[in-house]
Order: sequence, then structure tokens, then C-alpha cells
Amino acid sequence: MKASNTARAYGWVARFFHWTVAVLILAAIAVGLYADNLPEGGESQLQAIFAAYSLHKTVGMAALALVALRILWTLTQPKPRPLHPGRRLETLGAELVHWALWIGMIVMPLSGWLLHSAAPGGFARILWPFGQRLPFVPEDLALSERFAAFHEFGWWLLAGLIALHVIGALKHAIIDRDGTMNRMAGDPGRAPEPPAARPGVLPHVLAAMAALAIWVGVAFIPAGSSDMQEPAAAASVPASTPATVPEAGWAVEQGTLEIEVTQAGSAVAGQFGQWQADIVYDPESRTGRVAVSVDIASLTLGAVSDAAKGPDFLNAAAHPVATFEAEILPPPAEDQPHVAHGRLTIAGQTIETDLPFALTVQDDVAQAQGRMRVDRRDFGIGAGYADEGTVGFGVEIGFALSAKQQ
Ligand code: HEM
Ligand code: HEM
Repeated sequence: MKASNTARAYGWVARFFHWTVAVLILAAIAVGLYADNLPEGGESQLQAIFAAYSLHKTVGMAALALVALRILWTLTQPKPRPLHPGRRLETLGAELVHWALWIGMIVMPLSGWLLHSAAPGGFARILWPFGQRLPFVPEDLALSERFAAFHEFGWWLLAGLIALHVIGALKHAIIDRDGTMNRMAGDPGRAPEPPAARPGVLPHVLAAMAALAIWVGVAFIPAGSSDMQEPAAAASVPASTPATVPEAGWAVEQGTLEIEVTQAGSAVAGQFGQWQADIVYDPESRTGRVAVSVDIASLTLGAVSDAAKGPDFLNAAAHPVATFEAEILPPPAEDQPHVAHGRLTIAGQTIETDLPFALTVQDDVAQAQGRMRVDRRDFGIGAGYADEGTVGFGVEIGFALSAKQQ
């Protein structure tokens, strides 16, 4: 069989690329769905989730590499002519689906790699010796969720296109019995000679543009509309922030509350979408007090959000709210941060702790940000994970907010 395409059939190189990429993409979808549906909970279950996602990512990257080579090869090749140029609508439909498949073969693995690169920590490694991250892609949870929304909706589109494509191929094989299959599979010698007439350029351009428009449509689906991603508006503080703010009170206008844990050796970052803070602060004496309550169920933590909120860890069902009640102490020296000293209660256990934070006040707006590290064992969290192999002991808690004086 010839390596190159002819007007009648695809050569063996194009066939090799078509079928290997087809198998890898179908495998990526199957493993992705399998990984997404694995039960969360115990240590071995978490490890199974990591392993499945690592396999998924690796299969997807292999598909991307082959697609890149396939594109280079295709650019050098003639395209077998349409068999039924007279059936205008059918030819245009097939063309549209082919273009949309080409785009999908690129943007699906690419969006996966982008979401992996932007995810702080990245929770399951790509199994290859090359780097994990794409250059110029910042670690940014909101950005990662943006790509994740595309990835999660994109696969539905890609799967739908593959279904249409396969139905079309079967129609040619079973109803038309016109030898189309022999152009890509089977004996190229038995592929019929297509009519000499070539369709104009316009249908090609129209099909390509329509295919592009469909994928661009997916890119506009907002992050947060997927079931996998909690609203990216983790920064939004609930509207239920108390209406009656005490004297010298500060109302939080915007803020994020993040945690970072270490899972299987790599950092995984997450956010609480719902929390509220009652703040009293006097800029003169630089003292005050703060009471924070956090809705544990609003935590998003990559693919292990449910496990983190489950009985082995934060146990949101039994302990739905975590609190921090503290005195705000002035900075000990000018170049040092303020400290909130108080009681932190998580999963029903209370410890006394210090949260250092930087504070700037301009007019009636304050910007504050701080971080502290706690040990999950102090709260009896993850007691079944006695070593740090699966989940590290240390947990970083960080916040950033702006508040307006009332
Ligand atoms: C699994 C069942 C599949 C069957 C039976 C099948 C069959 C075919 C056939 C017969 C052709 C040639 C059409 C022609 O000559 O007019 C073709 C082309 C094509 N197939 Fe598939 N295919 C399958 C899966 C896939 C998958 C999973 C993808 C990608 C995700 C894919 C992407 C393409 C593309 C892009 C072309 C056009 C190639 C070009 O533009 O040169 N196919 N397929
Ligand atoms: C051929 C390419 C690919 C296809 C068709 C594909 C498809 C899928 C599917 C079907 C899911 C499950 C969606 C769901 O849970 O509803 C998924 C999830 C995921 N994929 Fe892919 N994928 C591809 C490549 C990649 C690559 C190359 C990476 C990373 C390097 C990747 C990273 C991920 C991640 C991290 C998730 C979980 C998303 C999350 O939890 O936020 N994928 N993918």
C-alpha cells in the first residue's frame, strides 16, 4: 500500500494516524469518565483516582503529539476527492464534521494540558519524563477552572462529533455500499474512482468556519457551570453578611479563603466559596477583633473535593461550620504584620493560634492578606492517614480581602 494519499484513497501513513488517534481519543474519554466516577473516600481510593487521572492525561498527551505529526503530514498530502460531489448537503456535512473533529483533536488535549498547568500543584502527574507545566501559564485556580469548564463541555461536543462521523461512515458502508470505508480502512484498490469535479473553495471555507464557530461557542461556556467545578466566584462573600455591622465595623467587599494541602507529594490548592467575617478594627489604636465562619460544604479542592469534605477529613455533615474568633493585635514593629490571636475551630476541635496578616488602610478601604499553617492532626482530621504518604500533615490557610468601613 502506498504511503501517500491518492485521489481515491488514504495512504498507509494517513491511515496509521487516523486509527491510532481515534483509539487514543476514545481511550482518553473512557479513562476520563472512569476517573471522574471513581468513589472518593479512603486512601486506596484516592490513589486509584490519582492513577486513573495520570493515565488519562498521558493518553491525551500521546494523542496530542500524534495529532501534531498528523497535521504536518496532512499538509503535504493530496486529499481524496469527494465521492458524491453532487450530494452537496451531505458532502458539506461530512466536511463540517471533519473540520470540527480536527479542531477538537487539538483543543481537547490542549485544554487538558492548560488546566493541568494552571492548577496550583496539579493533582495527578502526566506520566512522562518531560516537564509538567506549559511555559507562560501561571498557576491560577480561576484560570484552571476556566479551562476545566471548556474541557468538561468540550468532550461532549467531541463525542457527539465522533458519533455523527461513525454514523456517516456506517451509512456509507451499510446503506450506500459505496466503498468509502476502503478509502480509510480495507483495500484502497477497491475504493471507487471519485468524479473529477472538485467542489469550489467556498464550501470548504464555510465548513471550516462553522466548525470553528461551534468550538468557540464551547469556549464561552462560563467556568462554574460544570458540575465538577464549584462556582469560580469563590471570592464572593455571601449576601448574608450581617446587615447590622457593629460600631467601627468593616464590611468585607471581596475576598478569597484558600487552603493548600499536600497530596501524594504535590501541593493541591482549594477555596471556600462561602464564608463571612465580622470585623471590628480601629485604625488609630490598630486593634480590633474578628469572627469568621466558614461553610465547609463550599470547599472546592480539585478532584478530591468530596473526599476532603467526607467523613475521613473535614466531615462537613457532622461539622458544617469552621470558626475563627480572634483579637486583632497591632504590629509589634513598623515593618511587621498585624496578628490575629484567637481560637480556631475545625471539625469540632479548637486550638489557639496566631494568624499574621498584612494590612493597609486607605481612606475607608482596608486590604488585608495573611497565611498560617496548621497541623491537621490537631483537629483529628484524616486520623486514618497516620503518615504523610497520601496526605501531608501541614495545611496552609490563606486569605485576602478588601473591606469597607461602615
Ligand atoms: C471509530 C470509528 C471510525 C470510523 C469507522 C471512521 C471512518 C472514517 C472514514 C471512512 C474516513 C474517510 C472519509 C472519506 O474518505 O471521505 C474518515 C476520515 C476522518 N476521520 Fe474517521 N473514523 C472513525 C473514528 C474517528 C475518530 C475517533 C476521529 C477523531 C476524533 C476521526 C477523525 C477523522 C477525520 C478528521 C477524517 C478526515 C481526514 C481528512 O480530513 O483527511 N475518525 N474516518
Ligand atoms: C484526547 C484528549 C482528551 C479528551 C477527549 C479528554 C476527555 C476528558 C473527559 C471525558 C473527562 C471527564 C469529564 C467529566 O468528568 O465530566 C476529562 C477530565 C479531565 N481531563 Fe481530559 N481529556 C483529554 C486530554 C487531557 C489531557 C492531555 C489532560 C492533562 C494533561 C487532561 C486533564 C484532565 C483533567 C485534569 C480532568 C479532570 C477535570 C477536573 O476535575 O477538573 N485531559 N477529560
